[in-house]
Amino acid sequence: MSKQLSNDVHIAPSLLSADFLHLADEITMCEQLGITVLHCDVMDGHFVPNLTFGPPVIAQIRKCTKLELDVHLMIEAPERSIEAYAKAGADAITVHQEVSPHLHRTLLRIKELGCRAGIALNPSTPVSLIEHVLPYADLVLVMSVNPGFGGQSFLPLALEKLATLRVLQQTRGDFVISVDGGVDVQTAPSVVEAGAERLVAGNALFGGHFEETLIALKRSAGC
Ligand code: DX5
Ligand code: ZN
Repeated sequence: MSKQLSNDVHIAPSLLSADFLHLADEITMCEQLGITVLHCDVMDGHFVPNLTFGPPVIAQIRKCTKLELDVHLMIEAPERSIEAYAKAGADAITVHQEVSPHLHRTLLRIKELGCRAGIALNPSTPVSLIEHVLPYADLVLVMSVNPGFGGQSFLPLALEKLATLRVLQQTRGDFVISVDGGVDVQTAPSVVEAGAERLVAGNALFGGHFEETLIALKRSAGC
């Protein structure tokens, strides 16, 4: 089943590629350009081979914006840290299936903490592994690169997974389908056609002229 281009598609800039020495300015720019969601990539140097930031930085970001903070935890044993991210001000917390043996319990805990609960899938992880917990998820994040770094090339294998989720969305719950990695003007039309509703984009936006790229990206995504 393919999805018609519609207005419920939106762009979520990934702060991973923002200028961290001027983060408040970058966030203000996002607000002024009508962005509603900021994607925050947390990496632990274990689950992924890179290290970013933790709850104190999320708390600082929270202080300077009311935008939705979509926190993507690329960390081992995420259940040990979700409370800290909720307290820091995350609106949504996404954990990886690959490091969540008790995913059902973790999703419920995220909601209990007052946040929306997301599941992320590495490129090699099939959608079927999360089918039974989809009714407990508010968001599913399909990785279209192997997580850890911004600026990587889009993996087309993500398209079939997006389409599968789009079908499951009809019967398995009211979750947002998000895609993360290598999303740009060239790849956006295919991910929207496959079913993605939230397009996370880092390098495409922050690596060039943000406003011009955002306009082009929205046009190519039909939103
Ligand atoms: C990758 C991160 C992404 C990343 C996407 O591990 O989860 O959110 O920032 O960046 P681009 O758009 O540059 O691929
Ligand atoms: Zn991410």
